[in-house]
Amino acid sequence: MAPSKKTYKGCRDFYPQDMRVRDFLFDRMRIIAEQFAYEAFDGPLLEEVALYKAKSGEELINEQIYSFTDRGGREVAIRPEMTPTLARMVANIHKQAAKPLRWYAIPNLMRYEKPQRGRVREHWQFNVDIFGAPTNLGEVEILELIVSFLTSFGATNEMFSILLNDRRVVDSVFTTLLSLDEDSSYKLYKVIDKAKKVSLEKLDQMINEILVKSEQQQIFKDYLNIANFEQLNSFLAKYKIEENCQEFVNFVSLIKDQPYTPFIQYDPTIVRGLDYYTGVVFEIFDKHPDNNRAIAGGGAYANLLQIFNETPLAGIGFGLGDVTLRDFLETHKLLPDLSKPEHDLIIYYTDDNNQNKSFELARKLRQEQLKIECNLGTIKFNKIIKSAENKGYTFVAIVEERDGKAQVQIKNLKDRDNKFFNLNETQEIIDFIK
Ligand code: HAM
Repeated sequence: MAPSKKTYKGCRDFYPQDMRVRDFLFDRMRIIAEQFAYEAFDGPLLEEVALYKAKSGEELINEQIYSFTDRGGREVAIRPEMTPTLARMVANIHKQAAKPLRWYAIPNLMRYEKPQRGRVREHWQFNVDIFGAPTNLGEVEILELIVSFLTSFGATNEMFSILLNDRRVVDSVFTTLLSLDEDSSYKLYKVIDKAKKVSLEKLDQMINEILVKSEQQQIFKDYLNIANFEQLNSFLAKYKIEENCQEFVNFVSLIKDQPYTPFIQYDPTIVRGLDYYTGVVFEIFDKHPDNNRAIAGGGAYANLLQIFNETPLAGIGFGLGDVTLRDFLETHKLLPDLSKPEHDLIIYYTDDNNQNKSFELARKLRQEQLKIECNLGTIKFNKIIKSAENKGYTFVAIVEERDGKAQVQIKNLKDRDNKFFNLNETQEIIDFIK
């Protein structure tokens, strides 16, 4: 039987038109990360499964990981996320590195998921992380970076919001107020993480299975009803847990008057599914109802290096997926038209005698960094414009004989401007088409 022409489930082929979009998005990721002085890094596609078992959480390990035993008997996995690789790399060098460390990467990751809108099995993820920043200032910078990234496409706070919470708040509610043991705390974390994905009745049922006492249920309802930072402050004061959450309260006052403040909203249901977060956690959501998957998620993790028996080094960062980003930009019409390639000029000739002259002109212009297509073979004069328009060109060059001398005619297909040049007038040609 012939092999299928389809991709493996949940994976994508990137034809040139898809690559143009991908390159556009990745270029923007690199530009913004580098504007904030983050440096690129990368790691291997395969890691030992043990790396993820340490801190990534049950869902990732039991349901989503692609793992196998290699020929040497090692249990390995295709990376489902980048943070453990990043932590492993940082653990190797952090003692001698100047802090803070600011790193970014755009890895492809694989998770065994049910493909649906915003969810695939292979996706690319813009990862930006900072290690060893002074208290709360890494958090402040990471939020500014991600907002700069999304607003660089023209996005506004009518289109997306950053839903923010802090694991220390949740931990205080679970341990100090609800007196939950580790096991019940873990279960309740998973319930909140799913809060937006299940019906209210189902949510109530899941909560009541863990919180059996009515006063526990009341406190937890109060917690889930917190709608903004003022209400959070009142809740912390009412239940006397301000002290445990002081760092988050300080952080909230730090981000009060930042340009990105209007994008940020407190949300008690944001806890994040990955186990390593210890402080601020956030997810970015599109406000359009068509896109209900998070565009990005991240948070602060103080203890990730300890899995390698290293001294603690606090980190904070986020991952932003290419699929959810593209859905967001397309829904809000923020993606430029990339349906045609953007080359500078196409050169045609109608007579074989001008073939080498056309190649020579192309060579000279490429040396000046222009992107030049040379039409291979002769073409009838009256077919030139249509051919160039179909390929999406604005400028067309036609190498032809005029008064016994080879010349090039350049046409601007947008404003129909038209000019003749000698073949050696490279700079004049560049000035005309730039
Ligand atoms: P995450 O929330 O698992 O976090 O993923 C981050 C983002 O990656 C999601 O918000 C979504 O945009 C995208 N994403 C995740 N899974 C899929 C999928 N199956 N299909 C399409 N897009 C997906 C992390 O991975 C953390 N390691 C991020 C991080 C970096 N935290 C700190 N630093």
